[in-house]
Amino acid sequence: MTTSARCIAILLGLLSATGSGAAEPAAQFAPAQGNFILGCAGCHGLTGVSNSTLVPSLKGLVGYYLNVPDGRAYLSRLPNVAFSTFNDRELAAVLNYMVFNIGAGSAPAGARPYSAAEVGKWRKQPLTEVTLSAYRKKLVETLISSYQAPAEMRGYSAAATQ
Ligand code: HEC
Repeated sequence: MTTSARCIAILLGLLSATGSGAAEPAAQFAPAQGNFILGCAGCHGLTGVSNSTLVPSLKGLVGYYLNVPDGRAYLSRLPNVAFSTFNDRELAAVLNYMVFNIGAGSAPAGARPYSAAEVGKWRKQPLTEVTLSAYRKKLVETLISSYQAPAEMRGYSAAATQ
């Protein structure tokens, strides 16, 4: 079993364990939130809070990337996003849920939501392990120095350990 499959299996176990039994817990979620839970929360946590030295936290932070074009593209080019099983429309909805709900307060005023076409274009140019660390570091330093992003965005440090 891959790590992500194991995460999802654990998560599904938790969801069914905490359900009242009277209703299907998954049916209570809007599709984008449900897809985030299925495809992303196993690693990122239900609310985008994770052990941020291993997996970057998203809550209240992820919207900062929408300040710059490379940051917008970055969110669709991440390997776990680009290669997810969601189609472009579903993936755009998951990213919009992530940016505007989980990342609430961090996206710049008036930021456009992602369209299926935009996500479809960028996911065809996925970042690799080699390119990702340097690309992220450059983005994060720009967001901290010019867009008031908090320094805690430096917390994810896989780049330093590779
Ligand atoms: C297997 C675990 C895993 C899954 C599943 C996963 N991610 Fe990630 N995510 C990571 C890791 C690890 C990183 C750090 C960059 C990297 O190594 O890809 C990351 C990075 C990110 C980032 C960048 C945050 C930053 O500050 O750099 C975003 C946004 C993101 N993921 C969103 C998602 C979304 C949306 C999904 C579901 C479609 C998802 N991830 C699924 C592990 C995961």
